[in-house]
Amino acid sequence: MSPELIQKIDDAGIIAVLIVDEVKHAVPLANALLKGGVDAIELTLRTPAALDAAKAIKKEVPEITLGFGTVLTVDQVKAVVDVGADFAVSPGCNPKIIAEAIKQGLPFAPGIMTPSDIEIAVQEGCRILKFFPAATSGGMKHLESMSAPYNYLGLKFIPLGGCNLENAPSYLESELITAIGGSWVAKRPLIQSENWESITKNALEIRNLITK
Ligand code: 3PG
Repeated sequence: MSPELIQKIDDAGIIAVLIVDEVKHAVPLANALLKGGVDAIELTLRTPAALDAAKAIKKEVPEITLGFGTVLTVDQVKAVVDVGADFAVSPGCNPKIIAEAIKQGLPFAPGIMTPSDIEIAVQEGCRILKFFPAATSGGMKHLESMSAPYNYLGLKFIPLGGCNLENAPSYLESELITAIGGSWVAKRPLIQSENWESITKNALEIRNLITK
């Protein structure tokens, strides 16, 4: 990741994980997040609408730092590069996907949950890693203990999976964390029901917790 992108993610502090079912939701959703101060997203490739939704956001709401999630195949790496992804993440640590991302110049944060995952990611050249699933694997206690041998490498982590307004401070106060991520800010039913006000409210709540 370029220093500029690292800074953008660090400044954002929160990455909204999105599952978008309808392309028409993309722009109002991005605007609702932006209104609440959230300008970084992880658009998951879990719905057929995801890539077209990304294109709409890229065109209409260019202030958004556009990340993709659930990137599981080489073809998906190419597809997200084609629509102008700023970065991508995956739930697991797959050297083949990381290599393709590096080949395509796509900043990539693979998912890690064990020391072996970290070593694979580092070997492949990654320095920003997605800590997933964060809450059920032990939260900061697990991350601190697991990452201790690698601290000298200056790794930074994005916890995802079970993050919420209540546990956000436990992550955000750590030097290991660049930003947290989560779907609670814009839950799928809120998007489906076009409840943009609640999404803006959730965005404001988490942004108000981020003091850096
Ligand atoms: C992801 O999709 O990256 C994470 O599963 C988000 O987890 P959450 O739904 O618990 O926030």
